[in-house]
Amino acid sequence: MEIKLLSNRVKHEIVPDNYIYPVHQRPGIHASAWKQVPIINLAGDNQADVSNQILSAGKDFGVFRVINHGIPQQLIDDMLALAQEFFEMPAEDKAPYLSEDPTKEPRLFTGHRQGNITPVCWRDCLFIPTYPVGKYEHLYPEKPNNLKETMAKFTPEARGLATRILKLISVGLGLEEDYLAGNRSGGPMKMLFNYYPPCPDPSLTLGIPRHCDPDLVTLLFQAKVSGLQVLHDDQWVSVDPLPSAIVVNFGHLFEVISNGLLKAVEHRVVTNRNVARTTVSVGIRSADDCVIGPADALASDDSNPPLYRSFMFPEFVKAYTSNTTYDREINMEAFKIKN
Ligand code: OGA
Ligand code: NI
Repeated sequence: MEIKLLSNRVKHEIVPDNYIYPVHQRPGIHASAWKQVPIINLAGDNQADVSNQILSAGKDFGVFRVINHGIPQQLIDDMLALAQEFFEMPAEDKAPYLSEDPTKEPRLFTGHRQGNITPVCWRDCLFIPTYPVGKYEHLYPEKPNNLKETMAKFTPEARGLATRILKLISVGLGLEEDYLAGNRSGGPMKMLFNYYPPCPDPSLTLGIPRHCDPDLVTLLFQAKVSGLQVLHDDQWVSVDPLPSAIVVNFGHLFEVISNGLLKAVEHRVVTNRNVARTTVSVGIRSADDCVIGPADALASDDSNPPLYRSFMFPEFVKAYTSNTTYDREINMEAFKIKN
């Protein structure tokens, strides 16, 4: 069957029926105007304080933004512009990447990663393993010009930032600084390019419905267009782009390793009428052969029993991708220890 990318159409006149969400899942008009996702200055002199700020943001929101993170702004701008150019290329240049097989890498698809879920969501996505660069560079797209080179520069920068953040979190949790280094975060780093074209009626559909990411942490790079919302105390909070800030959100694996202390954050993407929005996300996950479970130090005594059993990431990914509802409890069901 031919896959029809949203980005292949110049202008969408209507939202087709199969993209229309049930009323209770639609964006609604109210995203909280006054709540703000915490902003953390990574270059602060007192790194213990930075570490505490990350932890309290992690416990409260499951997401935060970092500034003074050390990744050159020009590199981020180039990366985002090239990701957008990728989707705006002629259909025939994108066709070689299109696939309905979720195991294919790289893979370009539209709507949901799991395949034919309805309602379909309003985005196109390119999914590529990127790190280590030497191992995956041959998979980076050859077009548009400079994308490959830019990804090769950007990838180690993103990896370095993620490692720095994981160290700060480990220290904050009272674990060894390198607890999350090595295999626990050593799986192939996956990069996603998300493209949300202008939508004729944003009140009817979603760019991505409510979900948690499977990884330890995700770094999300966005340009000037809003669309990301996170759930906090049953309220949707808009994570509006702030020049030079990178969004860092906790995924399911972190909830397991921290024994529920740091929550995976539920989030979604809303669309807009006027401009295309492109984001680049980088997911940090455990190596496939790494045993994952609550850290002993966080789950050893009677008052703090382990909430999850041990498992390996491929088992979790299988459960995650077969859950077409995206419901966080269902994702975790098979891994929870029931008392
Ligand atoms: C995702 C995601 C958010 C965005 O790719 O899982 O939540 O703003 N993306 O693109
Ligand atoms: Ni997500």
